Amino acid sequence: MQAITVPESGGPDALTLTEVPDRVAGPGELLLTVAAAGVNRADINQREGHYPSPPGAPPWPGLEVSGTIAAVGAGVEGWSVGDTACALLPAGGYATAVTVRASHALPIPAGVDLIDAAALPETMATVWSNLVMLAGLRAGETLLVHGGSSGIGTTAIQVAKALGATVAVTAGSPEKLEACRTLGADILIDYRTQDYVERMLAETDGRGADVVLDPVGGAYLARNIDALAPHGRIVLIANLSGEDGSVSVRRLMGKWGTIHGTTLRARTDEEKDEIIRELRAHAWPLVESGAIRPVIDSRHAFSDAARAHGRMESSLHVGKILLLP
Ligand SMILES: NC(=O)c1ccc[n+]([C@@H]2O[C@H](COP(=O)([O-])OP(=O)(O)OC[C@H]3O[C@@H](n4cnc5c(N)ncnc54)[C@H](OP(=O)(O)O)[C@@H]3O)[C@@H](O)[C@H]2O)c1
Repeated sequence: MQAITVPESGGPDALTLTEVPDRVAGPGELLLTVAAAGVNRADINQREGHYPSPPGAPPWPGLEVSGTIAAVGAGVEGWSVGDTACALLPAGGYATAVTVRASHALPIPAGVDLIDAAALPETMATVWSNLVMLAGLRAGETLLVHGGSSGIGTTAIQVAKALGATVAVTAGSPEKLEACRTLGADILIDYRTQDYVERMLAETDGRGADVVLDPVGGAYLARNIDALAPHGRIVLIANLSGEDGSVSVRRLMGKWGTIHGTTLRARTDEEKDEIIRELRAHAWPLVESGAIRPVIDSRHAFSDAARAHGRMESSLHVGKILLLP
């Protein structure tokens, strides 16, 4: 089998298509022949040497794939050879085959292309676990998503709209904001030219956002509290602007606010089992109804992986970038 490995950390050209030993499905696992792998920001961190694979996972990147089951490990029920599936992985998705804990696999939702389904597991698991399971976003509430045109952002907009929430987004260009609008976003904020706190308060009669989904991190922390509604919840999922930020405890208390921070990959297998179960029960029907669909920016051959990473780093993309063997 082949994998896109990183023999030496570095820029996009560090990605190297290599022959690697075949994977074998162990007990409780599936072996999937990969149709496509989703590209995530974390893969860039891994390529640069800042985010190595966890112990036991292949050393190459890749957090999500779609494909066809080629073998079923001992003790696995509910899956057969030849079934199609998509799956959440701790690493190793950039390969022609992957092994995955069977309870981290999901069926391809009806109406979704097998290749496009590679865009679903990581983003849907991140968005659902944070917005629904953790922050408890409800119909009638207002969500603020920073980076609305990202893979995570395009998913969060659709999930929140399907739940009946009002959605505000920030993004770095009018074109990206237009893409967010077509997905259902109600309040469009160009953070390069507008103050998002002022806009949020102006658009909500001074109330602010009930939930903030934030990959920007440090630089936004104090301002997210300023933009927060009473009893609001801030969910931090990355630190694109840096790790450190300041919090006015008084301002946070005055809003009865909550700040959460989460990572998906480092969760236990059992926690991921629960997230996948929740996705299958509650989110997959929304995908099958067409209320939520994968937003695909571009597809790239494995041999063109450097270009795929270059596109993500350029930040010109809207939605998800896929790699195809
Ligand atoms: N914690 C978790 O479990 C988890 C799971 C998955 C993903 N994530 C994180 O979520 C983020 C989005 O992931 P993704 O795969 O969807 O990546 P992506 O598509 O590359 O999205 C990154 C987005 O962030 C925006 N951005 C970058 N720097 C910014 C800044 N300084 N201020 C404001 N916006 C900025 C960019 O939009 P503009 O061009 O509009 O600035 C871009 O759309 C990543 O940081 C990723 O690491 C976290």
